[in-house]
Amino acid sequence: MKRSIVAGCGAYLPERVVTNDELASRIDTSDEWISQRTGIRQRHIAADGQLTSDLALAAARPALAHAGIDGAELDLIVLATATPDNTFPATATKIQAGLGNRTGTAFDVQAVCSGFIYALAMADNMLRLGQAGTALVIGAEVFSRILDWQDRTTCVLFGDGAGAVVLRAGDGEGTNRDRGILSTHLHSDGTNYDALYVDGGPGSTGTSGFVRMAGREVYKQAVVRMAECVDHSLQGNGLQHRDVDWLVPHQANLRIIESTSKKLDLPMEKVIVTVDRQANTSAATIPLALAEAVADNRIVEGQLVALTAMGGGFTWGSALVRW
Ligand code: UT7
Repeated sequence: MKRSIVAGCGAYLPERVVTNDELASRIDTSDEWISQRTGIRQRHIAADGQLTSDLALAAARPALAHAGIDGAELDLIVLATATPDNTFPATATKIQAGLGNRTGTAFDVQAVCSGFIYALAMADNMLRLGQAGTALVIGAEVFSRILDWQDRTTCVLFGDGAGAVVLRAGDGEGTNRDRGILSTHLHSDGTNYDALYVDGGPGSTGTSGFVRMAGREVYKQAVVRMAECVDHSLQGNGLQHRDVDWLVPHQANLRIIESTSKKLDLPMEKVIVTVDRQANTSAATIPLALAEAVADNRIVEGQLVALTAMGGGFTWGSALVRW
């Protein structure tokens, strides 16, 4: 039975750090409000001219080096982003060219903050079917470009960044002890389209726009959905809460993360948190958190890692990985 094994991780954060105090010098907010309501203390912001593809490539290169794979050899590149360089072609094809790859398949996936889980599921399914042997899955965003910097209810929450993982198809017996992605679970409910959206944008409206969010509605759904789909994935694999070594949730708000860990009976010591330093980088939060926890040896081979996210659409999902 084929499984997608995580062979390498990489991350990139733009150099410029913007603190809550810096934002408070420009709009009617405070470090106290932002840190108490969200846990966010700072965020990274891309330099002028630095695009999603630049961030993605900067995360992809260390991920490939970690996996010991040359970019030219990749069979598949899937980029999760809500901030592509252009309306088309897919930004993933620019990354493909940047890596010197001319033989693989490259495409973008758009599920906003759940995008990385969606992209991981697409790649995992293709590897399991034998349509690809190696895959690069990236979450990369420059959300700073779609924020209304006068809207304090949204602009304080987001940041820019990119994270990447390399997957390699491996064979196993298919038990929950074998290395690799055990399962992925995707959901969406488009009746919530207007709760978190960009009010314009390239494509059919012919306009450009900014992020608009009914924050409380998103919050209420996030605390239920993220825990719920981790539960489903554990049940589907005959595993219990106590079997989880690490929970790597989407990083939007520390209170959402704490509530999710409580629902899953997991102490915060088993949860990877980056939201305090990076804010919400949408599709990039999970691969950024994975890269950090792998680099500092918290996540090691053999452990059970649960990923979960929820975002605009609404979309939500989970993945269980035997590292
Ligand atoms: O990745 C998925 C995307 N997003 C999320 O998951 C975000 C989910 N939602 C949230 O994290 C929270 O709902 C927020 C952090 C966005 C808001 O926290 P809240 O505790 O739900 O606050 P609220 O929206 O109910 O606002 C409370 C007050 C309001 O003032 P009044 O009406 O009570 O006088 C807001 O105007 O806080 C005010 N407020 C602010 N004050 C200072 C809203 N934003 C700010 C701000 N600084 N930046």
